[in-house]
Amino acid sequence: MWLWRCLQSGDHLICSQDVFGSTRVMLNNYITKFGVEVTYVPLTDLDAWQQAVQPNTKMLFCETPSNPMSEIADLEALSAISKQAGALFVVDNCFCTPILQKPLRWGADIVVHSATKYLDGQGRCLGGAVVGSNELMDKLVGFLRAAGPSMSPFNAWVFLKGLETLRIRMQAHSANAAELANWLNAHPKVGKVFYAGLEDHPGHQLAKKQQTDFGGVVSFTVEGGREQAWSVLDSTKVISLTANLGDTKTTIVHPATTTHGRLSDEDRQQAGITDNLIRVAVGLEDIIDIKNDLKRGLDLI
Ligand SMILES: Cc1ncc(COP(=O)(O)O)c(C=O)c1O
Repeated sequence: MWLWRCLQSGDHLICSQDVFGSTRVMLNNYITKFGVEVTYVPLTDLDAWQQAVQPNTKMLFCETPSNPMSEIADLEALSAISKQAGALFVVDNCFCTPILQKPLRWGADIVVHSATKYLDGQGRCLGGAVVGSNELMDKLVGFLRAAGPSMSPFNAWVFLKGLETLRIRMQAHSANAAELANWLNAHPKVGKVFYAGLEDHPGHQLAKKQQTDFGGVVSFTVEGGREQAWSVLDSTKVISLTANLGDTKTTIVHPATTTHGRLSDEDRQQAGITDNLIRVAVGLEDIIDIKNDLKRGLDLI
């Protein structure tokens, strides 16, 4: 909704390739219908962002860490490019929440969240949050009042209860995810592990600078293809098979056929989402239970 308020026909938006599937579907299928042009660039390729800037560029949009590949954006550098272009810099901060990362401090103009994820943290309510300067938010409020995406008072209260435990939940999610990422990294049936907390992750140093911890989402590839990936998903008993993330319960998803299933093969390939990729949003259970749940499927490969 906020996109409709910030952009108009004739504007140009630059978006990172690796973003939540529905973000891409919304940009490709809907925003473009209103005469907004969209260019996708690799999140970490600053030259590509710079080169994509056009005289009518009005917005740069990214997620960091990205969903599902956990790439890390250089927020200060992207903010500089957007300022030079006279464009708004918008960051989806779902994976980190304000506890782990404060993009406004690194130069973002607007930060967006699906509150349905960590902000609630227990899969109870659907909601979202848009954060920015009073001046920008005043512009949005008028549009939102007219368009109507209002939260019910009860849901707002539930979200506020979620915020009370957000700090300790994010710390615990991060600790469990780091342990799982290291364990997966050493597993013979696992190919690559995507988690910025791992020292060999290309965005590790940047994440250390921008974030206070690495968050709860770990993606990894398994030996084989779609069939092998699904055998791991289907073998889980503790972990819930669902596209949601940010819950106290660990959730697992096959991005290529679910969260990013509506993308064209080419777009999926561009984003690095292969058929053997699995995304785990690590919850707050005992980490031994999560490892054992994944081990059962990995042992079948
Ligand atoms: C990074 C990111 N942003 C936005 C969304 C959209 O969430 P919602 O459908 O709750 O608005 C998701 C959902 O998975 C996500 O992972």
